[in-house]
Amino acid sequence: MTPATLMTLDLLAAVVTAAAWLGSGVAAASRRPRAALAVLGVAILASLTRVGVVVALSGAGWWFVQEKVVVALPLLLVTGVTATVVAVPRLTRAADPQPSVVVALLAAGYAAVGGLAGTLLLGYPATLGSALAITAAVAGATLLTWRIVAGPGRSPRIAIAVTAIAGVAGVGLAFVPPPTMDDGRDQSLTAAMGYHGGGARLAVAGQEPGRPVTSFRGPDSPSPGGVVRRYSLTARTATVTLSSGQKVAAWTFDGKVPGPPITANVGDLIEVRLRNADIASGVTLHWHGYDVPAGEDGVPGLTQEAVMPGQEFVYRFLADRQGTYWYHTHEVSSLGVKMGLYGTLLVGPPPAGVDLALPVHTFAGRTVVGDRDQPLDRQAAPGTPVRLRLINTDDTPHRFTLSGTPYRLSSVDGTDLNGPGELGRVGLRLPAGGRYDLTFTMPADRMVVLRTDDRTTSVRLSPGSSAGAPEEDTAGWPDLDLLRYGTAAPAPISGSSRFDRDFTLVLDRGLALSGGRPMYAYTVGGHAFPSIPTEMVSSGDLVRLTVVNRSRDIHPWHLHGHRVLVLSRDGRSPSGSPLWLDTFDVRPGEVWQVAFRATNPGLWMNHCHNLVHADEGMALHLAYEGVTTPFHGAHGG
Ligand code: C2O
Ligand code: CU
Repeated sequence: MTPATLMTLDLLAAVVTAAAWLGSGVAAASRRPRAALAVLGVAILASLTRVGVVVALSGAGWWFVQEKVVVALPLLLVTGVTATVVAVPRLTRAADPQPSVVVALLAAGYAAVGGLAGTLLLGYPATLGSALAITAAVAGATLLTWRIVAGPGRSPRIAIAVTAIAGVAGVGLAFVPPPTMDDGRDQSLTAAMGYHGGGARLAVAGQEPGRPVTSFRGPDSPSPGGVVRRYSLTARTATVTLSSGQKVAAWTFDGKVPGPPITANVGDLIEVRLRNADIASGVTLHWHGYDVPAGEDGVPGLTQEAVMPGQEFVYRFLADRQGTYWYHTHEVSSLGVKMGLYGTLLVGPPPAGVDLALPVHTFAGRTVVGDRDQPLDRQAAPGTPVRLRLINTDDTPHRFTLSGTPYRLSSVDGTDLNGPGELGRVGLRLPAGGRYDLTFTMPADRMVVLRTDDRTTSVRLSPGSSAGAPEEDTAGWPDLDLLRYGTAAPAPISGSSRFDRDFTLVLDRGLALSGGRPMYAYTVGGHAFPSIPTEMVSSGDLVRLTVVNRSRDIHPWHLHGHRVLVLSRDGRSPSGSPLWLDTFDVRPGEVWQVAFRATNPGLWMNHCHNLVHADEGMALHLAYEGVTTPFHGAHGG
């Protein structure tokens, strides 16, 4: 069974356990000893099942079970055994259950509910504070029950006082900001122990010596042989008409969605003047997947201030790497990108033949590819080389299928794969933010059809008028596993490399302070932005990230400024082409290890590219020693 299945089973078992203990207690309270005994049997079975599931789940890693092993199961064990010992002999005598039986059964129920709440609300890592708070809540509920069932005279004052103190201390501890830690070297260890250092504030220029992030800028001139590619983009609200005629209110660059394509060849200098006409919340440009100098990275509050209405900012960077990329605003990006502030960035030389950039976006509930919400029909003479560049600009994955011809997935996130074999009848799952380049030679007798999520026909390429469209049900096609595609080749980093820094990111949901407010946040290591410890690196470090998803959502993980090499997923290294990615989907229960060499000094975001998740806490910084920001540094984007 996969960890995701076990996580679901554990939740189910926890719910049944809680319901059964409570049910047994209620039956006892309503003087139905036989029913109480029967439900008690279910409760014991469910509790044992939960223990079994947790043991199985622990095989997937400590982070999946920590709060269960440390808090939930001990509580359940103590109260469950007590309840069994107290209740079974008395209930089998079938006399009217005494108050002690009722209280013992309900206490086990409260403990089971507390454990469930720990998993759902507090998550990983359980701390002394959260353990105290849960225990106190269970004890408090038990005392209250005692008082109600046995009468007021018998409630022990001392127990009430101790419970209250524990509860207050627990809640206090749980919300105390983590201690400052500016070196991430031992973070994985401390995180695994449940003591999470953090809250490292980025050094602010003027307070400490260092080099401001704003000083890492692109060059003034192109490489020899290159030219300057000048663009000017104006962000403004506009009503956009989709190809079907449907009008949508959008936030645009130059009145268009997607914004104007930015293209260049390797060696060129890209210069983009961004103006903001009327986007009231402000706007920036982030070059997704393009490892620009930090000062050009477009993260408001970190590398620049947001460009407000009437203001402008000029970005300048060298086109030093070929491939398919995109740009988008990083200010209030969960709303801004959704509303249309994005476009494509293609670095060539452009290939011969048909070359289509296809950013896929959900707009007003419709799948929009490029600027069309209807299929794009194109003629392509037989034998023409074709490149389809799929770009997922949404928050969730899209599944693509291509029918009518064998093809290759030549490039992922702008990097060519090694020895990509021919594909057919497979689904391609593209993470939010990611890019796939599909290449093939136009066949003579058939149409080639690209579908999005099996529902939408996005592109139809026809070699001539007589060719029919392939009628295929693509929904049943299996998904391609990227980690097994292509041919293995030596890579500069491997799992046995000596890493200078090792960071573990445990992705979850839970109660946390996000932007100063307590909320049900998307968390990393139990904290939400900006309280997640900054990952500190030095120039030249070899850095490994272990990204663990113990939530029930998919998290497309994205590091700015660096491509990462995939070392393993769930402990297995890729058997196909080396995979350099800038965005990878960490699905529920998965553990990814990726690595990179820290060669792009600056301050960088490291976040979930489901931008709603990022906005609700799932974002942190990766900082190079000695780099400072003159801005407040607290913007997640
Ligand atoms: Cu495309 Cu910070 O992201
Ligand atoms: Cu996410």
